[in-house]
Amino acid sequence: MKLTLKIWRQKNAQSKGSMQTYPIDGIDGDMSFLEMLDVLNTQLIDKGEEPVVFDHDCREGICGTCSLQINGEPHGPDRLITTCQLHMRKFNDGDTIVIEPFRAKAFPVIKDLMVDRSAFDRIQQAGGYVSVNTSGNTIDANAIPIEKEDADEAFNAAACIGCGACVAACKNASAMLFTAAKVSQFSLLPQGRVEATRRVLNMVEQMDKEGFGNCTNTGACEIECPKGISLENIARMNREYLAASLRG
Ligand code: SF4
Ligand code: FES
Repeated sequence: MKLTLKIWRQKNAQSKGSMQTYPIDGIDGDMSFLEMLDVLNTQLIDKGEEPVVFDHDCREGICGTCSLQINGEPHGPDRLITTCQLHMRKFNDGDTIVIEPFRAKAFPVIKDLMVDRSAFDRIQQAGGYVSVNTSGNTIDANAIPIEKEDADEAFNAAACIGCGACVAACKNASAMLFTAAKVSQFSLLPQGRVEATRRVLNMVEQMDKEGFGNCTNTGACEIECPKGISLENIARMNREYLAASLRG
């Protein structure tokens, strides 16, 4: 496959970036999108040029590190997959592919296609956990019966890998789907109810502090989410937030 890549290059957060064009040849349909970028980088290094910086880790769709806007869509044209699971057979010989970083004020560019998503870490640290007594009195998790439906919904919410595609897909750069998933995975379980009031108030406050936009129910986040996180989680978080605000 012969392709034309238009890639965002930016030296650092302060500098002004621009799109650069790179022709590439010999790309196999069975290569992953990141392997295609590896081929490009090998060629750039051979020519003494700077390789393109992009984020990746597991390359198995589980860590949430890969984060590319491909032809205007977070994680590219396929549904329910991450960039690292996208294969080149989804493109045609002769295609031009536009590759940009996830764009949001709260995700500043570090270099080229790599953005700083530590805002998500700070939202998590504000309450996205369950405090457990590990002094020897820990209760066996399986000793608390949980409705199958609640367990399934909590599990589905916990599938969020924190990739940030929901933010990149949203015209307001809202982080509601991510935060809602992190709130829901606990609010549905009895273990998570103990800190529920504090959790939702603190996580939403931190989300706003980071500069993410508001949710206007467009639903682009749900469509682009590689893990199929449902908008129902946002509705649940809104209910949780209202109830927590009334409780004070
Ligand atoms: S909700 Fe989906 S798109 Fe957003 S961070 Fe989680 S996995 Fe990624
Ligand atoms: S590199 Fe881990 S999900 Fe893509």
